[in-house]
Amino acid sequence: MMTVAPVLTIDGPGGAGKGTISRMIAEHVGWHLLDSGALYRLTALSAIRNGVAVDDAQALSLQAQNLDVVFVVEEGVMQILLESDDVTTAIRSESVGNAASQVAALPPVRAALLQRQRDFCKTPGLVADGRDMGTVVFPDAPLKIYLTASAEERARRRLLQLQQAGEDARLSTLLEEIQARDARDMQRSVAPLKPAEDAVELDTTQLDIPEVVERIEALLAERKLA
Ligand code: DC
Repeated sequence: MMTVAPVLTIDGPGGAGKGTISRMIAEHVGWHLLDSGALYRLTALSAIRNGVAVDDAQALSLQAQNLDVVFVVEEGVMQILLESDDVTTAIRSESVGNAASQVAALPPVRAALLQRQRDFCKTPGLVADGRDMGTVVFPDAPLKIYLTASAEERARRRLLQLQQAGEDARLSTLLEEIQARDARDMQRSVAPLKPAEDAVELDTTQLDIPEVVERIEALLAERKLA
């Protein structure tokens, strides 16, 4: 599969910092951004709103195929509209995240979202954030990163995020949810979460966001991509 522009794939488990890091790099180098997790979250939310069960593979793949979604970027802030309704915040809840992880395990849903994800690849380049960006969606990407951090550190980061959003949560519950989601994402039969053979692995447990961004941008420069 040849892509029309270079792709930087950033895969890894939830809470490793992929979202923030992908957004910052895309902004710095002026590339497009694909938040593939948002597509699974939107499919889950759309199913919940339309009364579709999260294990009804055929109905869910129809939801995924027919997603009426618009990504609007205004003054550097991304807004996500589902059927004209602003769901930017709604798709980030723990319940939608858990439903997304279940929905994402179904092969027909993944197949329905594949081309939609590839269509994000446009000049001058794309930063693609997800679980299977380097293994399935963009296997020929010239730079693949696999970001990890310990489950404890990811739970701690998630707690901080929730507290900043004024939400209440317990560290122990978050840790259990993260471990359950990791297990589901890594053990599913289609497109399981794992590093691509040619991925550069970066453990961010002891690194802050600017340090990670700096390392990835150094690799982009080294490979003369941006
Ligand atoms: O990155 P995230 O938390 O927004 O992703 C939500 C869920 O979607 C996650 O549990 C796994 C799934 N997902 C996936 O299976 N493949 C992707 N490329 C991105 C996300």
